[in-house]
Amino acid sequence: MLGNGNTTSKVVFVAFGLILGYSLSLLQNFNTTVNILPTASHDVPLRSSLDDSFRSPVLYRPPQIPQGKEQTLQEKDGPRKILLDCGANVASTVQLFRETYPDGRNYIIHSFELDVRLAPYFASYSNHVLHCPVAVAGEDGNITAYAESAWKPDKGAVAGKDMQWGGGAIYASESEKQGEIHGRRFGVKNVIPMVDLSTWIQENTALEDYVIFKLDVEGAEYEILEKMVKEGTFRWVDKFYGEFHDSFPIPGWSVQRKQQLRSTLNSQGIKMLDWAGEYKKYQDMEELHKVEIPEGTPGAAGVVYSNCATGGPARLALTVQLGMGRKAAHKLVETIRAHPSNMPVTLFVYGDFVQDFPDLVMKWAVRFTIGIRENAPFPADHWVLQNADVMRMSLVSAVQRMREVGIRPAYYYPDGLSDRVKDTAKNRGLRIIQPTTKFPPNLGKLEL
Ligand SMILES: *[C@@H]1O[C@H](CO)[C@@H](O)[C@H](O)[C@H]1NC(C)=O
Repeated sequence: MLGNGNTTSKVVFVAFGLILGYSLSLLQNFNTTVNILPTASHDVPLRSSLDDSFRSPVLYRPPQIPQGKEQTLQEKDGPRKILLDCGANVASTVQLFRETYPDGRNYIIHSFELDVRLAPYFASYSNHVLHCPVAVAGEDGNITAYAESAWKPDKGAVAGKDMQWGGGAIYASESEKQGEIHGRRFGVKNVIPMVDLSTWIQENTALEDYVIFKLDVEGAEYEILEKMVKEGTFRWVDKFYGEFHDSFPIPGWSVQRKQQLRSTLNSQGIKMLDWAGEYKKYQDMEELHKVEIPEGTPGAAGVVYSNCATGGPARLALTVQLGMGRKAAHKLVETIRAHPSNMPVTLFVYGDFVQDFPDLVMKWAVRFTIGIRENAPFPADHWVLQNADVMRMSLVSAVQRMREVGIRPAYYYPDGLSDRVKDTAKNRGLRIIQPTTKFPPNLGKLEL
């Protein structure tokens, strides 16, 4: 549909009268917007004190993979994809991995966490095995684990910051063992089981499996890695992410011994990539998520488009923000499809929607251009408040969900605009769409 300014706006209203007259009374949870665009053709706060007694590990679920049966499993099901999430904290790694890692949902995730109070954070994830409270270590047995106490107004800062890192450790300094007034503010002490990780990996994964090993365990890494090197356990590992904790006191580990271990890892070609679940990033995140915008896509990355003043004739396009459930979205899209105008239409869809309803979105993609919103709806006005790493995770996730159904999105309709939003979109190659006019209006009231 072509037209100059005046006729365009008339056409806009005519088109909208038809579509929205039909569904006006149903409009609640979404905006339909119009613009003129270049369009692509196509704690639980338990009482915490150092006197907390040993809690029986009721939440500990033993590994579900039968030991000693690896070979049989392989013959039957083929190699598995496995993530070993050691030092799982508040499920920040599970979240980041499932949101962004290529094919992340097809990995069985084993999370090891020593603080039993953190177990509920994992409850929503499927294809997941939680070992909690369990400390990964260089040997089996029991050990005293220290964990951060719950926040209270006079808790004090950690290294100058009012930081709730929610973490625990099996190695603490003498002053930290005195209670929550020092260092990492450990106020909770429990005796928990240790698992010899090197042996566990050999017994519970197969050489043929694709195993990603993430290790962030506050100093326990030295004993674990030394044993893994000695026993050749890195043959079971395909990719290794982690963090060394040089400053924590580990009994028996001098600076020299730590350095020696690192150079042994280097000389054996065992490379550790950075992983920081709490900061929503990992070392090869950009490499694994290269920008892939279809060739010939109009516009430039990070630029806001709300009209197509490109010199040629104006084109009318319909930009539809879909933020409702499946039923209402289906109804709206099929109504638009049936309209005889056949105008270019771009449907902007959240990442979680395409994850839940892939067939619907794939069907839409045959007729409509599919753009992205965020990975999921945020509470009103919260999107622009997020930091750059959360924004990146969200857009990487939304793009990844689309790619899983064969769509390479180029357009993004942000839930709020700021320089940070624009920069994040630019880094992902996304063109930002803002409508010329919107329906329903987001000011005033809808009643006639
Ligand atoms: C660990 O402690 C539990 C509970 O007190 C006990 O039943 C178990 O035998 C201990 N395990 C080892 C290896 O010491």
